[in-house]
Amino acid sequence: MAATVLMAAGPGNWERYNAPLRAALAEAGVAADLVQEAAPETVDYIVYAPSAPLQDFTPYSRCKAVLSLWAGVERIVGNPTLTQPLCRMVDPGLTEGMVEYVTGHALRYHLGLDRVLATQDRWAPAVPPLARERPVALLGLGALGAACAGALAGLGFPVLGWSRTPKDLPGIECHHGQDGLKTVLSQAQIVVTLLPATPGTENTLNAETLGWLPRGAAIINPGRGALIDDAALLAALDAGQVGAATLDVFRVEPLPRDHPYWAHPKVTVTPHIAAETRPVTAARVVVENLRRLRDGEPLLHLVDRAEGY
Ligand SMILES: NC(=O)c1ccc[n+]([C@@H]2O[C@H](COP(=O)([O-])OP(=O)(O)OC[C@H]3O[C@@H](n4cnc5c(N)ncnc54)[C@H](OP(=O)(O)O)[C@@H]3O)[C@@H](O)[C@H]2O)c1
Repeated sequence: MAATVLMAAGPGNWERYNAPLRAALAEAGVAADLVQEAAPETVDYIVYAPSAPLQDFTPYSRCKAVLSLWAGVERIVGNPTLTQPLCRMVDPGLTEGMVEYVTGHALRYHLGLDRVLATQDRWAPAVPPLARERPVALLGLGALGAACAGALAGLGFPVLGWSRTPKDLPGIECHHGQDGLKTVLSQAQIVVTLLPATPGTENTLNAETLGWLPRGAAIINPGRGALIDDAALLAALDAGQVGAATLDVFRVEPLPRDHPYWAHPKVTVTPHIAAETRPVTAARVVVENLRRLRDGEPLLHLVDRAEGY
């Protein structure tokens, strides 16, 4: 019998995901009724995004798993009504987008493109160092952080990575724990934050840790707004301790019009567009987990509820 899969992913996602999910189901030979609405007790699986009105999972007594379309699960992981296994999204398309965003902004700072654009009225030579002379820190070495670290290392940057547990990644100098953070930040001229938002990562970049950076370092945050103490970052920018910041994610989104980030000359705001889940590739990830559930195999990308990611 076909499983009932409820698409609870907010406005617009039904249209975006309907055809890719049906194609992926057919490709994988998984029988499922993909529905927008259903009596809760008839639902076998839920495909979820936080923009959905669904917040109370209690009535979904038959549901065996909730499959998130988002990589970041901080808006659902603590939901006390959610007792089913929760999987986050690890999508090759999303990863590609993040690698492009991070390498693009890292190269912008590395090459001094802002200065180049600002000096179009005069001959003002300033040769940037080579990438191999500019250490980059990657805070977070998960699906996205590891991919970005690899791409930056491929461009020649010495990459220092930081994670919660020890890691061994080819070509990356890996560190972990609080001592590891100091080692990594104290060398980094560009810092990329790709940590999840959890109680353990809140304000990872704060007045003290920003002070560990070499003066004038640049920050790229496509992770989550809560990773940065905003007041400390603004103070570090004003003092010249931090040279520039590109911020894609914020504690409140959309970023309020009166937030100092908008007008700050050293801050680039991007509107949470670093990387989006891409329906064709993400649908295959969702369907692979539906197949695993059908065949009694372990789920991919299962969220550790205690760690919050
Ligand atoms: N801006 C956007 O468009 C966008 C799009 C997608 C995702 N994101 C954000 O990117 C984040 C990362 O995604 P992902 O798929 O790479 O996540 P992931 O695979 O879960 O990786 C998370 C990484 O952070 C590390 N970490 C977690 N807690 C830590 C702590 N307390 N101290 C040090 N390291 C810690 C983990 O360490 P371990 O390896 O030791 O577990 C892991 O390396 C998401 O959570 C989301 O917030 C943003």
